[in-house]
Amino acid sequence: MDTTGKSILLTGLLLSAYALTGGSFFLLASPAWGVEREELGRTIQSIPPNGPPEHYGNIILRKKSKKAGMSPVIFPHWVHRTRYTCRVCHFELQFSTRRDETGISRPAYLAGRYCGACHNGTIAFSVKDEQPRHCDRCHLKNTTELDDRFNAFAEKLPASSFGNGIDWAAALNDGIIRPATSLAGDYTPMPLPDNLMKPLKLGTTSPNSDVTFSHEEHYAELDCSNCHPDIFNIKKKGTEAFSMEKNIYGRYCGTCHMRVAFPMNDCNHCHPKIKSSSSR
Ligand code: HEC
Ligand code: HEC
Ligand code: HEC
Ligand code: HEC
Ligand code: HEC
Ligand code: HEC
Repeated sequence: MDTTGKSILLTGLLLSAYALTGGSFFLLASPAWGVEREELGRTIQSIPPNGPPEHYGNIILRKKSKKAGMSPVIFPHWVHRTRYTCRVCHFELQFSTRRDETGISRPAYLAGRYCGACHNGTIAFSVKDEQPRHCDRCHLKNTTELDDRFNAFAEKLPASSFGNGIDWAAALNDGIIRPATSLAGDYTPMPLPDNLMKPLKLGTTSPNSDVTFSHEEHYAELDCSNCHPDIFNIKKKGTEAFSMEKNIYGRYCGTCHMRVAFPMNDCNHCHPKIKSSSSR
């Protein structure tokens, strides 16, 4: 990239960091940090409990359905992530990692996009099928049946006390689940460069924190573009105002680790020195 490109990118990132923090960007970097740490303690205490394991990672889509007089759609991540990596949907099929941002509609999925890429009667039950039963598998009146299936499914997987109650990383590493990395079937991941193999020390707002980030642990499931440049600057320690508080509000690591991957209550999974909170 040339110098102009770099500075445009940098300005863009700074501006978005500023906009996203609602202007508190300079405050966070100011000496008033001590006061904010107390606030952080309270914020951490206020991490919402995860709710029932069978509902963690379920996305409810109701905007268009409601207008059309249909039941809301429940998209369960657990059903899908055992079969496909995040990359398949959040890169290949261009689903957003922000709820309601993709703009999924009936005309779009009937044309084979989004849900329709798989729910075509070949890979999975079809969106076209007029039998109400098929419509009702996505447009759900209640989740009882789906919840029962979850519970039977979860029994066979390594347990965790958080999120889905499933240790997904262990399930993947032990080969209990083998999600496909591509729908087209012709994708081989680019090998991870040597310099990204070892865990990165993070530390923009709390240089002494014990959190590291491992590309290797994320590489199997995600594309580089799932994190760069929208969530993280590609330059180490280049992500501005990268604090725990921002994580809890669903930014940075919290983009995934509050909603689909193991949640923020599981302190110990990221902070080897902090014990995990007990609340579910
Ligand atoms: C079969 C497709 C599929 C797979 C596989 C998948 N997702 Fe999603 N994901 C979706 C859809 C659909 C949405 C909702 C998008 C929308 O509302 O615009 C979503 C939403 C999300 C959101 C936003 C959640 C919220 O509550 O705002 C996150 C974060 C996310 N996915 C992360 C992941 C991660 C991490 C993985 C891999 C472990 C993954 N997804 C695997 C389809 C998928
Ligand atoms: C694979 C899952 C799936 C199946 C099966 C499915 N839908 Fe949908 N449908 C969706 C999603 C996702 C949306 C967008 C949800 C929203 O924003 O409310 C949607 C939206 C709709 C809408 C809102 C109008 C619009 O333009 O999007 C209608 C009407 C609809 N579906 C009818 C049906 C009918 C009728 C069937 C059965 C023939 C059906 N759907 C089967 C997933 C599905
Ligand atoms: C990458 C492929 C893929 C995409 C994209 C996908 N699905 Fe699925 N989905 C599957 C497969 C495979 C199954 C399990 C096989 C089956 O039950 O036919 C499944 C199962 C489901 C189930 C479980 C239903 C039941 O009765 O067991 C729901 C609900 C569902 N999908 C909704 C959706 C919605 C809503 C979307 C779009 C927002 C979507 N899926 C996108 C492949 C996909
Ligand atoms: C998904 C990973 C993850 C989880 C889970 C997590 N943290 Fe953090 N935490 C971080 C990151 C990243 C930072 C910022 C570190 C940095 O800049 O070096 C951080 C920073 C902190 C800090 C330093 C203050 C700050 O704002 O930078 C404290 C204290 C903290 N976390 C406590 C906790 C507690 C308590 C829990 C459990 C309730 C927890 N964390 C769960 C990733 C995580
Ligand atoms: C799950 C999120 C995630 C994914 C996926 C990801 N990265 Fe990163 N990457 C990060 C984080 C977090 C940092 C550290 C940012 C900081 O310190 O501000 C980083 C830093 C980097 C750096 C700077 C390293 C250094 O030592 O200075 C490079 C280069 C990089 N990533 C390349 C990649 C490439 C290439 C891929 C795809 C193979 C990738 N990343 C996938 C989150 C991710
Ligand atoms: C784009 C989504 C995404 C982002 C952003 C992300 N992660 Fe993850 N992370 C995952 C997924 C998916 C897994 C697999 C385990 C799971 O789903 O619970 C995972 C696993 C992990 C693991 C466990 C690895 C193991 O083998 O047990 C750690 C630790 C971790 N992430 C830390 C972080 C930290 C720290 C950040 C922020 C710097 C971060 N993650 C950002 C998606 C993400």
